[in-house]
Amino acid sequence: MSPFTSSKIRLTSRPEGKPTPEDFSIDQVAHGELEPGQVRVSNEFISVDPYMRGRMNAGRSYVKPYGLGETITGGAVGRVVQSAADDLPEGTAVLHQHGWTDAVQDDASTFQAVPELDGLPLSLYLGLLGMPGLTAYVGLTRVAELRPGDSLFVSGAAGAVGTAVGQIARQLGAARLIGSAGSAEKVSLLKDKYGFDVALNYRDAPIREQLVRALEHEGVDVFYDNVGGDHLEAALEVMNDFGRLALCGAISSYNATERPAGPDNMGNMVTRRLRMQGFIVAEVASEHPEVTEEFRERMTGWLSAGDVTAEETVVEGLEHTVDAFVDMMRGGNTGKMVVRVG
Ligand SMILES: NC(=O)c1ccc[n+]([C@@H]2O[C@H](COP(=O)([O-])OP(=O)(O)OC[C@H]3O[C@@H](n4cnc5c(N)ncnc54)[C@H](OP(=O)(O)O)[C@@H]3O)[C@@H](O)[C@H]2O)c1
Repeated sequence: MSPFTSSKIRLTSRPEGKPTPEDFSIDQVAHGELEPGQVRVSNEFISVDPYMRGRMNAGRSYVKPYGLGETITGGAVGRVVQSAADDLPEGTAVLHQHGWTDAVQDDASTFQAVPELDGLPLSLYLGLLGMPGLTAYVGLTRVAELRPGDSLFVSGAAGAVGTAVGQIARQLGAARLIGSAGSAEKVSLLKDKYGFDVALNYRDAPIREQLVRALEHEGVDVFYDNVGGDHLEAALEVMNDFGRLALCGAISSYNATERPAGPDNMGNMVTRRLRMQGFIVAEVASEHPEVTEEFRERMTGWLSAGDVTAEETVVEGLEHTVDAFVDMMRGGNTGKMVVRVG
């Protein structure tokens, strides 16, 4: 068989604050002969995700830190180009967690075959049909327990999880959608394309002031938080009695070098009898074994009926992966940021 090589992006130093290209290297790796049970996969898209920033730190988290010199692992989709495994023949589309590399050789068991999507790119398995979409779905259905008629505020509304939250919430019968994002273009997109009733640019003025003013005397029943800090404080100000807050992420603090101040209005949790719960998608999915299949079925149906659309920002070339990651962390993406490789 022909020699098989791949390029892999590794973490070489732990970022202080914002990651820089100097924190990473890109190396060529030559793979050995294909062994029985193994496959070779050429990647089409790789994912850059906020949780990867946490894994670049040494401290305790819910996933173990990347080791120095280790390839950045995470979601990727590709196609089997050579196979020594009966269950994954050449040409099969696969989803896997081998991360920031253009190609992989490994045991077939480390890859999951995925159905081809009629007229749609495989990148959807990294976004709307993948982990971010599932995160939106479990957060709304199993954590916030969204009910028809609820009004919902989602922070980070124009990102991968955020665009999925808005669209899924509508499908589940949310009556009113309020979202925040970091640019005028994103705010227009939320209103014009995704039908948000209220969309706010948190860079224009403090989000708490804007939200209170925009809602006047109407509150929200569900807050889906991707941002934390000032956005959580803003939501606590406008929650209706018995509202539910699903804490999905706190991206405003991921690159912080000092601890941000906490919300100053936690007393509202008591007076309004609120329920706030943080969650990790994989844990909720294992506590609710039916939810992943339920999500896939419903999302595929909504997609094929044209009820939801996949918002993506595609960066070209493995060599631009680090730039794409840094750019996503400061808002350079709309919807899911992926890197096209190969
Ligand atoms: N709990 C879980 O299991 C789970 C799973 C997946 C993701 N998450 C979390 O969900 C959140 C969204 O993830 P994603 O993959 O969908 O990323 P994303 O929203 O597509 O991209 C990150 C976005 O964060 C926003 N942002 C960056 N700094 C900010 C700040 N200081 N204040 C407000 N917004 C800021 C930027 O948008 P703007 O232009 O709007 O600023 C950027 O586009 C993250 O917090 C992530 O950690 C959690």
